[in-house]
Amino acid sequence: MWIYVTFIVTISIKIVYLQTCSNFEDGIDRSGPWYAYIQTMLSTDSCCNLCNAEGTRCQSWVFVRAGGTYAPGCYLKQNIPSINETSTNKQYCTSGFKQTSLIMSGRCAYPGGIFELGIDRPGYNYARLLSIDSHPACCAMCQLEGDKCRAWTFIRNGAAGKESGCLLKNQIPPISNVPCVACTSGTK
Ligand SMILES: *[C@@H]1O[C@H](CO)[C@@H](O)[C@H](O)[C@H]1NC(C)=O
Repeated sequence: MWIYVTFIVTISIKIVYLQTCSNFEDGIDRSGPWYAYIQTMLSTDSCCNLCNAEGTRCQSWVFVRAGGTYAPGCYLKQNIPSINETSTNKQYCTSGFKQTSLIMSGRCAYPGGIFELGIDRPGYNYARLLSIDSHPACCAMCQLEGDKCRAWTFIRNGAAGKESGCLLKNQIPPISNVPCVACTSGTK
């Protein structure tokens, strides 16, 4: 019995740990201080795996391909810098962060958070994240972004005529009068 319990706990810890390499964000530059730069890392997977292997010391990473003005390679970071939407190098960047950093509590709690279900707040997007797969996680990402993020709309996959994903906004757009079943929004 105890062996069984231990086994379950170990499996769930492993799953939390491993999922950090499934949320790559192409075209997102999280510029900010890094603690290690590895020039010889040649893929996003190896960069993410290295961040995982570093444990809690590494919270996020940016992998840079050749072509821009940044030196190509893998940059490991001790925090999660906010998204640099004006970066002229973003098309050469892929970023990732530890999923466990998204704290779904307070107004982002699920259930019980302050969510505008079926509400679209179009406009003022400064980033669109495709790796975020729920409205509480989109809310938590807006929290993580600090003052820069004022509001968000999460649009589920497959909504007709809508781009899906977590849309982060640098101002609070008014609520659209067009109903959107696939949308959930929130403000700060
Ligand atoms: C964003 O990236 C640009 C380079 O494209 C850089 O000059 C600027 O300092 C960055 N902003 C922040 C907040 O890091």
